[in-house]
Amino acid sequence: MRRIIVAGNWKMNKTRSEMQDFITNLVTELDSFEELLALPLICPPYVYLQESKRICGQSKLEIAAQDVSKYESGAYTGEISAPMLSSIGVSYCIIGHSERREYHNETDNEIRDKLLILRKERIVPIICVGEKLEEREKGTTSDTIISQLSEIFRDVEVNDPAEQIIAYEPVWAIGTGKTATPELAQEVHSLIREWLAERYSSDMAAGISILYGGSVKPDNFASLLQEPDIDGGLIGGASLALVDYLTLLKTGNRIAGTLQS
Ligand code: PGA
Repeated sequence: MRRIIVAGNWKMNKTRSEMQDFITNLVTELDSFEELLALPLICPPYVYLQESKRICGQSKLEIAAQDVSKYESGAYTGEISAPMLSSIGVSYCIIGHSERREYHNETDNEIRDKLLILRKERIVPIICVGEKLEEREKGTTSDTIISQLSEIFRDVEVNDPAEQIIAYEPVWAIGTGKTATPELAQEVHSLIREWLAERYSSDMAAGISILYGGSVKPDNFASLLQEPDIDGGLIGGASLALVDYLTLLKTGNRIAGTLQS
């Protein structure tokens, strides 16, 4: 069964001591969970990956990178490669975030390269897709999502649903305070799952976790998770304060418990 994932994307936030406090306290809080059914995942900036992994120790908290180079090594100043991430034990990585697409002109073809390079290192990509406001208004959301998925997964074989995570993040909802309604998000999540079933298999589609991202907050997360195809959140702003992140994690864990029973 797919797992509920509560992923905090810190983006370019927090100093080193803020990171240390957050991760240390979160690890302590995780001990107080009777049973941790949801997967807690934090995506700190690159400079803190190694230290945050060390603070996590043997806890259940997973650490993800926010991006990766599409190249394996070489003269790419400022870039970080998948083998580097793998060499410090990072096992998850966001790719195709809309901020990378918008500010760094990333294309679906490049996101596909990143998917393949992470695959080689056995790092689980968290693949972001999502429509812009004008696409939503023109009624072309489905076309955008299908075109992004078709290019990112072009000639890519998938053998295990746990090899990747997909995040649906409507661009108009990111950092704007405008969350997609649960019904509207569910529509796109089920479209993604149908596409995966057709492209791969129904087992594959049923096993892949599809997260929702875009102004997820402690007070709207539960209603999003009630939808059958929403398996967690990729959360920016609301993952920065430990108290909010813990509320989100508890919500995810509670709903994971109801799904199991
Ligand atoms: P937000 O960001 O929760 O602040 O809207 C989500 C994301 O960009 O992953």
